[in-house]
Amino acid sequence: MTRPARARINLQALQHNFSRVQHAAPRSKIMAIIKANAYGHGLVRVAQALPAADAFGVACLDEAISLREAGFDRRIVLLEGLFAAEDVGLINGYRLDVVIHHSSQIELLEQGRLLRPLDAWVKLDTGMHRLGFEPDSVASVTQRLQNIPQLGVIRYMSHLSCADDPDNVATGRQLQVFLDAVGTSGAEQTLANSAAILGWPDTHRDWVRPGIMLYGGSPLAGRSAQSLELQPVMTLGTRLIAVNERRQGDAIGYGEDWICPTDMRIGVAAIGYGDGYPRHAPSGTPVLVNGKRAALAGRVSMDMISSTGRSSPHRTTSSPTLAAG
Ligand SMILES: Cc1ncc(COP(=O)(O)O)c(C=O)c1O
Repeated sequence: MTRPARARINLQALQHNFSRVQHAAPRSKIMAIIKANAYGHGLVRVAQALPAADAFGVACLDEAISLREAGFDRRIVLLEGLFAAEDVGLINGYRLDVVIHHSSQIELLEQGRLLRPLDAWVKLDTGMHRLGFEPDSVASVTQRLQNIPQLGVIRYMSHLSCADDPDNVATGRQLQVFLDAVGTSGAEQTLANSAAILGWPDTHRDWVRPGIMLYGGSPLAGRSAQSLELQPVMTLGTRLIAVNERRQGDAIGYGEDWICPTDMRIGVAAIGYGDGYPRHAPSGTPVLVNGKRAALAGRVSMDMISSTGRSSPHRTTSSPTLAAG
C-alpha cells in the first residue's frame, strides 16, 4: 500500500476566501500573494482558481516564469525584486514587475539594459525594519528610477508589522509615515496584507495583498478563521494504522508527554512531521477521526501521530488550520 498521508486542496474554499477579500476591500485591486508555491497549496493550480485577481505576488523568478509558461498573462510582481545582473533581461523578457527595496537593485537596473517598459513597486520601510527605503529618501529613489531608460510606472508599497493586533498603535503610525511620504504623489499605493484587509480599512489604498487569508488561515490574533468566515483550503488526511486499548496511566509516545486519564483506545495515524504535520502541535490539537472530533495525544513523531477517540480504524483527517491553533 502506498503511503496514505494526503494534502487535499479545496479550490472552492480558496474562491470563497477570495470573495471575502473582495467584500472587505471593495474599492481596491487585489494582488493575490501566491509566493512559496502558493503557501504550499500549488502555485499554478491556485493561480488558475483566481481569475479575478488583478495581479499575482511571487517570491522569485522561478515562480514568475512558471506562471508565464503556464499561460498567465496577468501582472506578476516579484516581491523581493531582482538579485543579480542576469535577472534584468529575464524580468524584462517575461514582462514582470519588480519590487525595489534597496539601492543595489537600482544599480542593477542602471547597469542593465531594459528593452521594454518595466514597472516598479518602490518599497518603503515605514517601521517594520525588514525591507525598504527610508521614507525620506523617496524623492531621490524615484528620481533615480525615472532616469533609467524604459522604466515604466512607479508604484509605492510598504509592509505592516502589527496589523494582526487590532489595538496596536504601530499600524496607524506606519500608515501615517507612508502617507506623509507618498500620499500626495498621485501614484498607486499598497500596504494591506490579510490582517489589514480584515482589520484596518484605512490601509486598503489602491491595492491590497492578501496571503494567508486566501488559504483559510486567520490573520488576526485571537480570532478563529471560522469567526472571520474563512474556509480552510488544505486538509491533511491519512489512515489509522493501529488502534490499541490502553490503560489509565499509560504514557503515549516520545518523552512520555501525555498520560491516559482513563482506560481508553488510542489510534495511531500514518502522518507526522516528515509529511509536514507541525511538529510543535501540542497534545489536545483537534483531529477528526471518521469526521468526529478527537485530540492529538503525545508528541508528533516523524511519520506518526497518536490520537484519542473511540472510532474504528478508518480514515482520519486533520485541518492544519486547527492544528496550528
Ligand atoms: C510583501 C508582502 N505582501 C503581502 C504578503 C501577504 O501577507 P499575509 O500572508 O499576512 O496576508 C506578504 C507575505 O509574506 C508579503 O511579503
